[in-house]
Amino acid sequence: MIKTDTISSSFDIIALRQQFPILSRQVKGKQLVYLDNAATSQKPQSVIDALTGYYSGYNANIHRGIHTLAEEATAAFEATRNAVQQFINAGSREEIIFTRGATEGINLVAYTWGRQHVQAGDEILISTMEHHSNIVPWQILCEEKNARLRVIPINDKGELILEEFEKLLSERTKLVSLVHVSNALGTVNPVRYCIEAAHQTGAKVLLDGAQSTVHLDIDVQDLDCDFFVFSGHKLYGPTGAGVLYGKKSLLESMPVFQGGGEMIKEVTFEKTTYNELPYKYEAGTPNIADTIALKAALEFINGVGKKNMQRHEDELLAHATSELKLIPGLKIIGEASEKTSVVSFVIENCHHQDLGILLDNQGIAVRTGHHCTQPLMDRFGIPGTVRASFAVYNTLQEVDELAKGLRRAIKMLV
Ligand SMILES: Cc1ncc(COP(=O)(O)O)c(C=O)c1O
Repeated sequence: MIKTDTISSSFDIIALRQQFPILSRQVKGKQLVYLDNAATSQKPQSVIDALTGYYSGYNANIHRGIHTLAEEATAAFEATRNAVQQFINAGSREEIIFTRGATEGINLVAYTWGRQHVQAGDEILISTMEHHSNIVPWQILCEEKNARLRVIPINDKGELILEEFEKLLSERTKLVSLVHVSNALGTVNPVRYCIEAAHQTGAKVLLDGAQSTVHLDIDVQDLDCDFFVFSGHKLYGPTGAGVLYGKKSLLESMPVFQGGGEMIKEVTFEKTTYNELPYKYEAGTPNIADTIALKAALEFINGVGKKNMQRHEDELLAHATSELKLIPGLKIIGEASEKTSVVSFVIENCHHQDLGILLDNQGIAVRTGHHCTQPLMDRFGIPGTVRASFAVYNTLQEVDELAKGLRRAIKMLV
């Protein structure tokens, strides 16, 4: 039962929580407290209904059919493209490429734009706080092209050191590929500044929006990033439905990625010509159901309002930070002045995994480990952290449960 005196008043959180069926379940005999939202968020009933609605009402392959079901499915799939365009304020719907998620979006750029533009001696700039999915594709490319991967260092608070970034930028820099919001630290990077600086030296910029898209207002035209990627499952949508945004001129001039159906205009054994944007990058049958349901997730977010969500999540973060700091031996990893929705920490003499298990025994779901940011953990000299990450349906009371749960766990471990 949620106590109304301990929750944010900017919207009706009890009604909002009722939209998420999973939140009423028990884990290990306790009411679930789900604080692993940076890994994946839970789904509202509207998203679940959109999935079952497609499979039970108009399941058909898209684009190629002329029958009613195919037309309905195509219209619903393409409606998500329009919704995404508006959601991130892209200039045109052709700039929205559906992918499996942020990882596939980054790989797509590495395999197409990267292979076309990066040559021996060129440099790609990333930061210490990147997710592995924004490290490994560039390592593969650099190895193949004999190019160099360079890394922007961070300070002890988990912020980019901008003077070092400026020093690293040069005419050799072909791409700056930067996480917008760190999944392991919660740091919100000054991407507008970085994009401007990178463009001045002629480099392109890819933003990894896997964590930012659900928490911040995203306007890709205003940011002026060249590429932007995100995953639907982190913004109340289904798994397997993600987006690559690219500036139209870039997407048009890039070589194709995967070959197959849909991405072609005409095929003969001698030669194939390719489809227009966005279909040029969407070979084969896409993830129709999940992409359709992504629209319901965006509608959910728009319905609550990003500003309301931000206010609520900021309140949760502030409360969590102050409560956790009271726990003896607890050290927060990542104390950037610009932060959102993630609190990562270690506790003296307690292994993060043990803490995770003991919290789970109390129905509290957090993530433990390196969070797919091993180089970042190395920077802090730790094997991993416990990470609590917040979503719009979390309450201050749940944060209190986390603090209580940790105190109980510490008593058992120390
Ligand atoms: C910052 C960041 N980038 C990229 C990814 C990869 O997202 P996905 O696994 O959905 O492709 C994640 C996932 O946790 C992330 O947090």
